[in-house]
Amino acid sequence: MKTNLVSVVIGTQWGDEGKGKIVDLLSETVDFVVRFHGGNNAGHTVITGGKKYPFHLIPSGILHPKVIGVIANGVVLDLAVLVSEIKMLEDSGIKLKGKLFISDRCHLIMPYHRALDLAYENVRGKDKLGTTGRGIGPCLSDKVSYNGIRIYELINWTLFIEKFTFQTNLKNKILEALGVEALNIDQELQQFSKLREIILPFVTDTFLVLQKALTQKRAILFEGAHGIMLDIDFSPYPFSTGSNVITGAVNTGAGIPIQAVSKVIGVVKAYTSRVGEGPLPTQLAGELADQIREKGKEYGTTTGRPRRVGWLDLEATKFACSVSGVTDIVITKIDILSDLKEIKVCVGYKLGGKSIPYSSCGYTELAKLTPVYKTFLGWKEEIAGVTEFKKLPKNCQAYLKFIENFLGIPIKLISTGPAREEYIQVGPKL
Ligand code: IMP
Repeated sequence: MKTNLVSVVIGTQWGDEGKGKIVDLLSETVDFVVRFHGGNNAGHTVITGGKKYPFHLIPSGILHPKVIGVIANGVVLDLAVLVSEIKMLEDSGIKLKGKLFISDRCHLIMPYHRALDLAYENVRGKDKLGTTGRGIGPCLSDKVSYNGIRIYELINWTLFIEKFTFQTNLKNKILEALGVEALNIDQELQQFSKLREIILPFVTDTFLVLQKALTQKRAILFEGAHGIMLDIDFSPYPFSTGSNVITGAVNTGAGIPIQAVSKVIGVVKAYTSRVGEGPLPTQLAGELADQIREKGKEYGTTTGRPRRVGWLDLEATKFACSVSGVTDIVITKIDILSDLKEIKVCVGYKLGGKSIPYSSCGYTELAKLTPVYKTFLGWKEEIAGVTEFKKLPKNCQAYLKFIENFLGIPIKLISTGPAREEYIQVGPKL
């Protein structure tokens, strides 16, 4: 059944909410799946037919035979990573010609961006931010300081060589000043000349592709990356990622008018995790944290780093839902919480004895405040793969109902395991 909707899937926490599986699931009924911001700092995993597909750039919905994948202008592209994903899919028998479109407006992540990302972290020392090291921040800062190079320039090889040489010479001066070896321009250009041949057949004006899709009332799903708590404006900066993560990025990152969006699906993991530095008010330590991390396989898809874990922070999640206009909730990884004696959920913050909302907190307040918790009794039963709400233990049902009431937004889907078919549909299909 066609949904004829423009919907957006958005992470309401610090990323790693399990959006990849949800995007894959919802892609069954859409025509287009679009990445519109971020880059290969994102990691979305889809497991189907016993095979695992890790995606960093190509939209997770691409595995469905009729779905067209679009990488729109808001995405920053590391061509080597993109080519390895194209290869992974083509090796699995998925033909991408006419199925994948890439915007010529995308900015390119250059070797000097990756080198600068690591060099800046090194200089920060104990105050490092814990970036993914993929060159995201330096690439986006070049974009806004008019030093960026796009696919548009890559199309014209002579122009690309000129721009790349100028920028690499400039960046080499900074790298050398930071004690990092300068990049070899000829070697890098050789690499680009190979990658370019593979990428260019997919490049087009994705604005036109998507406008045509809108006019023809085709169903479009926007695949959000990261999580709202990492948004460049609405996170406790500088513990952020470089792009806007909120729903509005669909407009800036793909040219889709905001009033065309009819559904914003907020993905909420049943607990919290975070990679990298920065405040995490509900963070857990010790055995309990280890149990959740191991059971939830909370290790970064992009970097392999162990994730910090904590109780679900509804104060932050409620803010995320309001700033992004979330209309429907999807809960993920509820099965990970089985076998805990009790489960806590943060329902507010206190600072100096007074309540303080998430939106008024910078990183210094977030590091000092005390979360206010509501405590639930846990459940013993393993619930992995359960497909009916009424088959969930009563305590689990109570936990989910509380989340729904607190957020004031209906829960439409509950994921109970990593595989495509492991979920509970609540009410009509999303
Ligand atoms: P950057 O995006 O590589 O610059 O990293 C900035 C911060 O965002 C770091 O704390 C990263 O760990 C975090 N981050 C960026 N993308 C993701 C994601 O998709 N999931 C989780 N954390 C992310």
